[in-house]
Amino acid sequence: MKGIICAMDLEMKKIREDMKNVKEEKCAGLTFVCGTIDDTEVVAAVCGVGKVNAAICTQAMIDRFSPDCILNVGVAGSLSKELNITDIVIAGMLVQHDFDCTSLGCRPGEIYGSGQKFFIAAPSVVLNLRKAIDIINDRRENAGEKTLHSVEGIIASGDQFISSAEKKSFITSEFDALACEMEGAAIAQVCVANGVKFGVIRAISDSADESSHMDFGEFCRKAADNSAEVVKVFLSESSES
Ligand code: ADE
Repeated sequence: MKGIICAMDLEMKKIREDMKNVKEEKCAGLTFVCGTIDDTEVVAAVCGVGKVNAAICTQAMIDRFSPDCILNVGVAGSLSKELNITDIVIAGMLVQHDFDCTSLGCRPGEIYGSGQKFFIAAPSVVLNLRKAIDIINDRRENAGEKTLHSVEGIIASGDQFISSAEKKSFITSEFDALACEMEGAAIAQVCVANGVKFGVIRAISDSADESSHMDFGEFCRKAADNSAEVVKVFLSESSES
């Protein structure tokens, strides 16, 4: 069974529409939707925004449904000139940009006591996400449609909606991250703690600068639909990830 976690209903909408044989179950105050997408068994949940919500949902999903892999799907702010609105970013690694025990001798983002700073996504999941994008782009090319532009790299998560050039430049210079969001690294940490494979795929909704709140409102749905499309193809094409 594959687990899918989104922060917001809007990010889950398209995935939920693709699910068949649906059954809902409540756990930890969250609704887990079990069903199938193209014969792959799936459990999907909207966790709410932020790292604590994401961690609660991930642990509950693992405890109750034992998924062999969890995907975090949704939108992100761009930290890179390479990533424009609706482009896709696949996380190779994730970091919590707001974890700061530097005054105790840790590196920025380092989880105190563990020495760990980056959480590495499962290479097989990253590979199959890339393959899914290739399949979509072949289809789009054949249909004469605009293809998806995607980049792989570091995603930085924190309990902040990034909306200033100053904060953006701190995250890029400190962590070399391509995109920022508010859940991925927490989901990654919980998956690593439980030995569960994970991947994070996000589409860009805004540029994480002074215009981000306006762009987010305008482009969130279109971006969310792009990342959901990749997940649908990922699930239908990859029997093993
Ligand atoms: N998710 C989408 N855009 C974001 C931003 N600018 N900051 C944090 N999370 C986001």
